Amino acid sequence: MKLYVILISVVAALGGLLFGFDTAVISGTIIFIQPYFGLSEAGLGWTVSSLLFGCIAGVFLAGKSSDLYGRKKVLMLAALLFFVSALGSAFAHSLVSFLFARILGGLAVGVASILSPMYIAEIAPAKYRGTLVSLNQLAIVIGILVAFFSNYLLVNTGENNWRWMLLVMAAPALLLFVSLFLVPESPRWLVAHGRNDDAFNVLVKTSGKEYASADLKEIEESLKSQEESTFRDLLAPKIKPLLFIGAILALFQQITGINTIMYYAPKIFANVGQSNDSALLQTILIGGTNLIFTLVAMVLIDRFGRKLLIIVGSTGMMLMLAGLSGLFFTQQTTGVLVLTFILGYIAFFAASLGPALWVVVAELFPNRLRSKGMSVAIVSLWIACAIVSIAFPVMLEKLSGGFTFLIFALICLVNLLFVLKYVPETKGKTLEELEKQFAE
Ligand code: BGC
Repeated sequence: MKLYVILISVVAALGGLLFGFDTAVISGTIIFIQPYFGLSEAGLGWTVSSLLFGCIAGVFLAGKSSDLYGRKKVLMLAALLFFVSALGSAFAHSLVSFLFARILGGLAVGVASILSPMYIAEIAPAKYRGTLVSLNQLAIVIGILVAFFSNYLLVNTGENNWRWMLLVMAAPALLLFVSLFLVPESPRWLVAHGRNDDAFNVLVKTSGKEYASADLKEIEESLKSQEESTFRDLLAPKIKPLLFIGAILALFQQITGINTIMYYAPKIFANVGQSNDSALLQTILIGGTNLIFTLVAMVLIDRFGRKLLIIVGSTGMMLMLAGLSGLFFTQQTTGVLVLTFILGYIAFFAASLGPALWVVVAELFPNRLRSKGMSVAIVSLWIACAIVSIAFPVMLEKLSGGFTFLIFALICLVNLLFVLKYVPETKGKTLEELEKQFAE
């Protein structure tokens, strides 16, 4: 694999790092902003989830504007939005300005959540596309870990501690903005805008001289004589099933419960009577497991394929959640088994559905409809994410851990059946070969 491709993928994946950081940083600020802004429990819930509403809008913004202005320029805009949001939320003196800044950050997360994987998929050679797009998930996971650590390090910096925690994000945002000047525009976008010579130059650098002409021809073919695409085109008979697969898989990535652990682990441990002292250790174990098994997925995903990974992963997630539920039902929650099942669950997610969802969603759609198809799928992800994060504390309180985790285990089972029946294998083929295959 060419070093150049790895480098530009790493730059694009910085968008994923900011996505992870921005969604996780809020957890450490909660106990300080609640009294500062005088928030009720419900008010806190809305304040925390305000970001997610920004995300939904951001995905649409990215879908449309990245077709018009290019993937790279819109990612640059996201970097600026991350920067402004970091400053705005860190210096906010009223709830309204705080919410405004968080929603701007959400817009940026939404944009990055679609454009980073899309851009990488569009510049990556087919053979390594799974690994390279998974870099984005690796960056998300690292972003989450960095947020946890930096919050921990800044907690004792006085009454402005939460401001520092939020301000940290300005640094990677600037880094993303500046480093984007070094990466090329996506060759698929260039061809769509008639800049075939520029596209050829990029392909020479990413795929090598011997493949560049053939790659260019394939891309030209796929974009030939196509009028401008609209969202309505997603309902065409050959595209609708792809839209269904993308949106449902994105939904399952969330409703199988990953963020009940990522956002609420301390609450679960408190629920089983563990002290807060061990919270950091648990956070490190959860974040570390997430990181290690994402690396495992990156090694396996182009070798064994996306589908097999998701099948094995969903089965493992289901068994771990069923075990966790069993512990709650039999009231054996004091031992080390709770942590073991939680870490097992994280490991199976990180090695499968975590990265594979982003890879598959970036591969399903034909060139001219990719941004629009991905928008719909990823909006479904953010809506599901908002619902699960708002519902989980209530479920835990009203249904108890036993039923709550049993429900999530059953959802994993439904996901498994869905993947077995509907999700196609996409490894190894160029985006244009996939396009032809799905059009048949
Ligand atoms: C999911 C996020 C989740 C993260 C955890 C991502 O793929 O979309 O919702 O927080 O993985 O690693």
